[in-house]
Amino acid sequence: MAYTLDAQEQETLTTYNIVAPEWNRTNMAHWKDRVFYDFVSRLPGNLLLDIGCGTGWDAELFTSEGLRYVGIDISSGMLTEARKDNAHLIDTKAVRFARMNMAELGFHSDTFDGFSVITSLMHIPRPKVPAVLSEIYRVTKPGGAGWIAVPYGTFEGMYGGEIGNEPKKTEQVLSNCWLPETLEPLLIAAGFTIVMCHLYSHMLFFIIEK
Ligand SMILES: C[S@@+](CC[C@H](N)C(=O)[O-])C[C@H]1O[C@@H](n2cnc3c(N)ncnc32)[C@H](O)[C@@H]1O
Repeated sequence: MAYTLDAQEQETLTTYNIVAPEWNRTNMAHWKDRVFYDFVSRLPGNLLLDIGCGTGWDAELFTSEGLRYVGIDISSGMLTEARKDNAHLIDTKAVRFARMNMAELGFHSDTFDGFSVITSLMHIPRPKVPAVLSEIYRVTKPGGAGWIAVPYGTFEGMYGGEIGNEPKKTEQVLSNCWLPETLEPLLIAAGFTIVMCHLYSHMLFFIIEK
């Protein structure tokens, strides 16, 4: 059955299309920390899927470690920025981007050696998360690894405070927070093994394996 975006997902998508040109100016880029290296060292091969890749600033992070990178995102606005910012990497064929909903990944089963889902699973309504995790599991190779970051807590609903540090009523996103005890059972039910769960600042990080 085709996936339908509900009103909150639709508003989230609209917001990202609006804020995309300002995203890199108003948000923090990522860096290579202990968790990053732990994740990369577990990958059985070099093909990585970045799920909800946004403006794709992790493309540089991963390709500099010798990985081939596929970034998918539901927002055409964010992907426009991603393609612009990473044109030099796209030219080398190490990087490509595609517009896709993480709930319906257009890839064969067992394709990727690993995946990252950095602050994008929070935009999926809770009842839909098990199916999304199953879909991510499907496209991951046996032995592949995943790196997940979600905001920590119990908040559930639309939130505008993190977008551009200048929240407006029209710029809200679905921001469901998670606790280890609420997300871990869903990851395990999807088939993953939990390697690590780590709370840093207000973010919850997982490394998992198929
Ligand atoms: C907070 S941004 C994070 C972007 C990037 N991962 C980063 O850390 O910079 C969340 C991204 O998830 C994307 N997203 C939201 N729902 C999605 C869905 N159902 N499928 C794919 N991407 C989605 C948004 O368009 C947005 O680009």
